[in-house]
Amino acid sequence: MGLVYPLPSQNASLGGKVIDLESCLGKTVLVVGGGGREHAIVEALSRSPQVSKIYCAPGNAGIGLKAFNVPLKDTDVEGLKNFAIDNAVDLTVVGPEAALAAGLTDAFRAAGLAVFGHTKAATAIESSKEFAKRLMEKYGIPTASYKAFSDYDEALAYVSARPFPAVLKYDGLAAGKGVVIAQDLEEAKAALASMLLDEAFGKGRVVVEDFLTGPEFSFLCFVDGKRVYPMPLSQDHKRAFDGDKGPNTGGMGAYTGLPFITEEDRAFAYKEIMCKAAEAMVAEGCPLSGVLYGGLMKTPQGIKVIEFNARFGDPETEVVLPLLESDIYDIFEAVATGRETAEPVWRQGFSLGVVLASKGYPGSYQKGFAIKNLDQVDAHVAHMGTAFKDGQLVTNGGRVLMVIAEGPTIAAAREKVYAEVAKIDCDNLFYRNDIAHCAFE
Ligand code: AMP
Ligand code: GLY
Repeated sequence: MGLVYPLPSQNASLGGKVIDLESCLGKTVLVVGGGGREHAIVEALSRSPQVSKIYCAPGNAGIGLKAFNVPLKDTDVEGLKNFAIDNAVDLTVVGPEAALAAGLTDAFRAAGLAVFGHTKAATAIESSKEFAKRLMEKYGIPTASYKAFSDYDEALAYVSARPFPAVLKYDGLAAGKGVVIAQDLEEAKAALASMLLDEAFGKGRVVVEDFLTGPEFSFLCFVDGKRVYPMPLSQDHKRAFDGDKGPNTGGMGAYTGLPFITEEDRAFAYKEIMCKAAEAMVAEGCPLSGVLYGGLMKTPQGIKVIEFNARFGDPETEVVLPLLESDIYDIFEAVATGRETAEPVWRQGFSLGVVLASKGYPGSYQKGFAIKNLDQVDAHVAHMGTAFKDGQLVTNGGRVLMVIAEGPTIAAAREKVYAEVAKIDCDNLFYRNDIAHCAFE
């Protein structure tokens, strides 16, 4: 027998409301992951009248106010499977790609458990750059042209003969560090040596592709085989500092409603990219059953794919899901079981979120700083890296919190968010002041 809930002291120190109606009528859901994305998923599930109990593994301090945190790692497939069986979980929703790449869906399905998230084979659309590029080439999905190499000398000869910048991508999961935009031969040499000779991310190939230009945006869709249900478009801000300066991060803020993307662009991206990719995956024998995330770019030659991810984006999810009017449990359950469902309904309006990160992030940073005045914030707050220490909420990660607000315009949402962010009192946080700047240029 593994962990069976409720445990007597679980969440006791969190002082918040836990959804536990002890109702045998409602559904029990397990969310896998423990960041802002999973907090947004838990929030959306908590709005479903069908859901009476939510577990989150491992969860975090903020998630613990709405769900039972379960001390299991997101890649502990056996532990999570046993937990789901022992606690009569009706549906499991997977956040991080690492859990999908570890085969969580395959193991759950083999045990007869319903799960929202792709199989290991389908997750290759994110976990292998070469798989994704081959798929796009074969099915005519627009993307930068490419060539893949396992030999350092061949890769270097190819890169040397082409214009710079050169885009070099390690063919595997590399925690967001596997893409190098080399400005000159020296940088390209160093990156290729690190990936192919030193095997910095493990043994693997390198994809070299054309350098594209234009604004990037994220198109997240719920996908069940060939059925593709689009979510509102959003844009992430990857650089640490204002003006898109500084190092790349996991994302410092996001917003919905992109004025530079026309309805025609959106329709093209939906039909020629997202639907085509879903159909291609069915044809390849590895249908999707979760979220397909298109990392897209509006280039002078049209919309092209920069990358696909096999999961909800973070921080995009935190701004997109608050706009969902439909019952998210219905959507998750339909995709998990292969049932057709109604087209999800989204609220009009705009959503914008600002990430508060630990000073030093994405480099080294300290944890354990008290976060005060959060109770005064009149907006959604997604916890990304927080913990409770002696009854006090403290920083516990690189990205710590995200404050999200809606408005009738992007400007209104932005004004509201920054007014609420200013109320938070913590000695060791920083944030960008220009989220959604592209919408005003
Ligand atoms: P990826 O992990 O593939 O999304 O790449 C990380 C970032 O590198 C992207 O968000 C882009 O900003 C940039 N990038 C990736 N591929 C290209 C490309 N072919 N041309 C220009 N920039 C790229
Ligand atoms: N926002 C970028 C990602 O989720 O990969």
